Amino acid sequence: MRSQLSVLLLCASSLVSACLYKRDGEQAPWSYEGHNGPVLWHNLTPDNGLCGTGTNQSPINIDSTITTVDGSSFNYPAEADFILENNGHTVDCKPSEDEDATAFRSTLGGAEYQLLGFHFHAPSEHRVNGLGYPLEVHFVHKHVRTGDLGVFGIFFDIEASEGDDFFHQMPFRQLQAKGDVMHAEDISLRTIMAHVRTSRVFNYSGSLTTPPCSEKVNWFVAEQPLLISVDQYDALKHAVGFNSRFTQGMPGEKNLLQQSEHCEETV
Ligand SMILES: *[C@@H]1O[C@H](CO)[C@@H](O)[C@H](O)[C@H]1NC(C)=O
Ligand SMILES: [Zn+2]
Repeated sequence: MRSQLSVLLLCASSLVSACLYKRDGEQAPWSYEGHNGPVLWHNLTPDNGLCGTGTNQSPINIDSTITTVDGSSFNYPAEADFILENNGHTVDCKPSEDEDATAFRSTLGGAEYQLLGFHFHAPSEHRVNGLGYPLEVHFVHKHVRTGDLGVFGIFFDIEASEGDDFFHQMPFRQLQAKGDVMHAEDISLRTIMAHVRTSRVFNYSGSLTTPPCSEKVNWFVAEQPLLISVDQYDALKHAVGFNSRFTQGMPGEKNLLQQSEHCEETV
């Protein structure tokens, strides 16, 4: 009885401290560290509940249980203009208004998607057999009929020379502060498109890796990395800061944050 009581007390006190909800309807500010960092995203607003309870959360460590899928290609123009914005969490890139938005179609695992934009995570969010990379770029798409999200992840390694052409026109040095916006012309998409066509591609059903951590996101991740130069990586790293969510449980597994709340095990 005594030990049951102390279990109850422990649970009650952790519930009280968990009630940091913002109730004013504004988007709760979140970050990658401290009191509004990834282990507490679910406490910032009830909208973020899945961050702490979802059982198909991203990113994951891609091991041998994760399937691969054929039939992926990006069917983009060879070069295109993008609007790049430092939004305080990443550098977010969208096709420029002078581009025909319908020109950015992709086939992901045999299904037709439309590109919404792409952004950067340093270090990588996904891992493959326990190993991460310095950078992961997420190409965010929506399914042309269902509207479901499909995200294609490409890893980058750092190399001493000039890196892949994709980064050559990226003005990361002028995107160092939140709110900085740049128009970047003639971004080459050739290497990216060739890589998607020729890579082994893992797929699984996961989530957004940022609040509100919504699920039913179709994930596609290329196994092999492309290359970014030391210089461009340095500029990008300073623009985005550390912006990688911690590795989540495997698809279908109980959320790791719920596992950590097992009061019985801590008494
Ligand atoms: C992988 O993609 C294939 C083809 O789109 C799909 O049928 C399958 O359900 C996907 N697997 C997972 C685990 O999402
Ligand atoms: Zn992302």
